[in-house]
Amino acid sequence: MWEGLHVAFGRRTDWQVLAPTSGLQLFFTSRTVAGMRVVITGCAGFVGSHLTERLLADGWRVTGIDALTAYYDPAEKRANLTSLLAHQRFDFVRADLVTAPLAKLLAGHPHVVHLAAQPGVRRSFGDGFDQYVHDNVLGTQRIFEAAAEADCPRLVYASSSSVYGDAARYPCAETTPTRPRSPYGVTKRTGEKLADIYRGLGLDAVGLRYFTVYGPRQRPDMAIRRLCEAAAGGPEFRLHGDGSQIRDFTYVDDAVEATVLALTADRTSPVLNVGGGQEASMSQVIDQLSELSGEPIPVRRRVGQLGDVHRTGADTTLARSELGWAPTVCLVEGLEASLDWVRRRRGAGVPVAVGAS
Ligand SMILES: NC(=O)c1ccc[n+]([C@@H]2O[C@H](COP(=O)([O-])OP(=O)(O)OC[C@H]3O[C@@H](n4cnc5c(N)ncnc54)[C@H](O)[C@@H]3O)[C@@H](O)[C@H]2O)c1
Repeated sequence: MWEGLHVAFGRRTDWQVLAPTSGLQLFFTSRTVAGMRVVITGCAGFVGSHLTERLLADGWRVTGIDALTAYYDPAEKRANLTSLLAHQRFDFVRADLVTAPLAKLLAGHPHVVHLAAQPGVRRSFGDGFDQYVHDNVLGTQRIFEAAAEADCPRLVYASSSSVYGDAARYPCAETTPTRPRSPYGVTKRTGEKLADIYRGLGLDAVGLRYFTVYGPRQRPDMAIRRLCEAAAGGPEFRLHGDGSQIRDFTYVDDAVEATVLALTADRTSPVLNVGGGQEASMSQVIDQLSELSGEPIPVRRRVGQLGDVHRTGADTTLARSELGWAPTVCLVEGLEASLDWVRRRRGAGVPVAVGAS
């Protein structure tokens, strides 16, 4: 299935990929976005594929860029793309942001959402840092510069709660001093600093500090995904640390809603916290998922992970007032949806994803 689609897209020239949709093909909705174009980097990833679905449903024309990197099995990313590729207002460009023809891709000054990144804390230590610099610093600088030059009206980009590190006080507001504890966090903070520079050159860049996003299609290295896999028959869940570490969990639809609002809001602050307001310790999440699955989840205890912070917690006053955003999905509902998705995948015979951490 994928190979066929891949070959079909591989035949397209740059110009064809960029060919504007004819007026007749425009899809009108009650929203004012019908026919507007957005370029989404990282469209095949977890958050990116949900956002792409949502913007297509809202009537946007979407050009998705993704390199299908090997941070986790690219087969998952291809699966995320399957339904998107069938959409007539979606064009997919497989390319690395560091070498992609960005001036061509941003012709016609589309809106931009920049999600492409090498994620994850653990692998950013040691030799792995090269890839983080490549994707999160070089790739980010290139898309910011290209969007500034192309006069794109708004660029929303993914930052992270990891910029805060272990904070002196919780919840963290955007004014809380940033003290990243991992090389990954440093690359995300560097992205914000780069955005400040391009804002000075006229680029309307808005950074969203996402707090632990979870839900169907979550990355296989993330804790909730690994817990759901363990609850659905294995492998057992490796718990790093004593389980007391707290995260502010954000359901993916809520993260997507904040992103859509940030893309179209009249004016926003340079960075906004996007946290679901559902703080829970890992032990509490394990208990909750065990209850939902009907039996205890097999857990193997491991030492704490390098770069892991003890707690994340978002003060979302700014996003609420500037975007009119509020999270709507509670942790139990979100965990249920995540577990259902993993079980359905298993039921369909999709191989078990083996997490990275
Ligand atoms: N998921 C979370 O909890 C979370 C929390 C905070 C911040 N974020 C940020 O949100 C964004 C999306 O995260 P995700 O969980 O969906 O990750 P993901 O790994 O599922 O998606 C990222 C996508 O970017 C692509 N990519 C990476 N480098 C690229 C490059 N150089 N050129 C083109 N494509 C490239 C990858 O192939 C992948 O499909 C990332 O920027 C991440 O740092 C995520």
